[in-house]
Amino acid sequence: MSLKEKIDLSKLPKHIAIIMDGNGRWAKSKFLPRFIGHTNGVKTVKNIVELSRKLNIKVLTLYAFSTENWQRPQEEISGLISLLITYLKSEIESMIKNQISFRILGDISRFSKEVQDEIENVCNKTKDNSGLVLNIALNYGARQEIIKAFKSLYKNKIDNPTEEDISNCLYTKGLPDPDLLIRTSGEMRISNFLLWQIAYAEIYITNVLWPDFSEEEFYKAILEYQKRDRRFGSI
Ligand code: IPE
Ligand code: IPE
Ligand code: MG
Repeated sequence: MSLKEKIDLSKLPKHIAIIMDGNGRWAKSKFLPRFIGHTNGVKTVKNIVELSRKLNIKVLTLYAFSTENWQRPQEEISGLISLLITYLKSEIESMIKNQISFRILGDISRFSKEVQDEIENVCNKTKDNSGLVLNIALNYGARQEIIKAFKSLYKNKIDNPTEEDISNCLYTKGLPDPDLLIRTSGEMRISNFLLWQIAYAEIYITNVLWPDFSEEEFYKAILEYQKRDRRFGSI
């Protein structure tokens, strides 16, 4: 039986969130520049989006650029942004055809007008699609998101907020929380990702580097998730 056949289709995570890490180390291990690691990382993104869609996963959230990643060399940052633009231009038709709804989590106001326009174009053209919701976390930081929520509660004079009020102020408004959080390349940390939303996510960390995260590795993560006993504080 293949790994794919072992997956219980009635017990799939509704929302999978991924910290795509290890592009730099992948390149380094092959004596290649970091940028080549990122271009190979984009191939993995395309593959995982396609597989998620075929499995009928409702929401896929990919961490592409954190609020802390501005500390990287300017050249690497520009390389990552140009890869994003190329990705959007090459994928928009396929997103429309496959009913993928593209969204951004994060503050894109720090990017150039050209970048913002391209992102908004893809968001607008795919916003009514009813299939997979594809969130790309870009200039995203969970603490920054929580500050934004506090400000919005204050502005709207909600002085006794419920969990729902807070969830409604986050970029993930209206979406279910992640059931499964995957991190590649072995670091045992969250790196300021979705702190509120992952309260009860199952965490899966693999040593595999993101450019090597294949179809089989994705199925392994889902199978591991399906073995977990999710008690939510109960017995
Ligand atoms: C993940 O790979 C991609 C981004 C953070 C944009 P890294 O670039 O962090 O790769 P490592 O961690 O240096 O190997
Ligand atoms: C987390 O990876 C951010 C993204 C995947 C975009 P990093 O490589 O930036 O995280 P740290 O520095 O190892 O915590
Ligand atoms: Mg990293």
